[in-house]
Amino acid sequence: MNDKLKEILDAAMEQISSADNMEKLDAARVGFLGKKGELTQVLKGMRDVAPEDRPKIGQMVNEARAVIENSLAKKKEEFQAVLLQAKLSSEKIDVTLPGKKPAIGHLHPNTVALNEVKKFFIGMGYQVVDGPEIEHDYYNFEALNIPADHPAKDEQDTFYINDDMLLRTQTSSVQAHVMDEQKPPIKIIAPGRVFRADEVDATHSPSFHQVEGLVIDKDVTFADLKGTLAEFAKKIFGEDTRVKFRPHHFPFTEPSAEMDVSCFKCGGKGCRFCKGEGWIEILGCGMVHPHVLEMRGIDPEKYQGFAFGIGLERIALLKYEVDDMRLLYENDTRFLKQF
Ligand code: DAH
Repeated sequence: MNDKLKEILDAAMEQISSADNMEKLDAARVGFLGKKGELTQVLKGMRDVAPEDRPKIGQMVNEARAVIENSLAKKKEEFQAVLLQAKLSSEKIDVTLPGKKPAIGHLHPNTVALNEVKKFFIGMGYQVVDGPEIEHDYYNFEALNIPADHPAKDEQDTFYINDDMLLRTQTSSVQAHVMDEQKPPIKIIAPGRVFRADEVDATHSPSFHQVEGLVIDKDVTFADLKGTLAEFAKKIFGEDTRVKFRPHHFPFTEPSAEMDVSCFKCGGKGCRFCKGEGWIEILGCGMVHPHVLEMRGIDPEKYQGFAFGIGLERIALLKYEVDDMRLLYENDTRFLKQF
């Protein structure tokens, strides 16, 4: 029995020490210690051993088992150390290598322009409000004094969702919402996206952005409008900028005007940038039409107001001297990265 055990032990040690991977080591464990393993067979053969010898043989088998288990564990540790080493060296990083620069994006020129516009008006005490892009025909037209059969509706054809709902053609649609929600004094700007059934070209897009302004208070005059917008033009286009108001027609303002700024490229002498005019149109404006106030239950004898609508893309294109609006929407990073 003793010899047999010694033989098993030697074979086990030989197999363990020659195992050169985890699978072989595991095969050795199963082969000697497993259910049908050689050492287990010896234990099973104990019933043939004389009862007085059993404790001694049992002890020898247990000792052999302990030796084998020990060697298995040691060998396993060796393998794990090698594996860890391999992993460490394959994952080694050279901390002296220059790092990879993260590609950080930046604000779109439209957003930069909007932030400047907002900064100016917030500084003047205006509140920035939001309005729905999907709008009732009523708020987009009728509440702005544009009845169903008015030709101004043709000029601003848009995308209709049904007879009542459309994609707003102008941020002026926010005016009536604000007057429904707030009592005068009102002093807001409403930036946002607007839509028109326009073909894409260098100066048109079916979707663009406007910033609406509305002020309603007692004793508001055209002088307030002029002063505010002249100051705005200086902040956006430079201190030397002059402004010019040309009479115009908008159904929701009376009187109405378009405001031009002196060309900041040539100072007003006339150049390619301003097409020889010396002036560049940047917005529409006017005194809020009394009927627009009446429709909201505001007494035009007590309150007056002025309104204006700025084309945001126009500001961005002028500021960056870009001559094609499409560039703002194509999102070619080679273009956008320049601003
Ligand atoms: N909503 C006008 C447009 O899209 C722009 C405009 C003109 C807005 C005059 C106004 C205004 O508030 O008073 O053409």
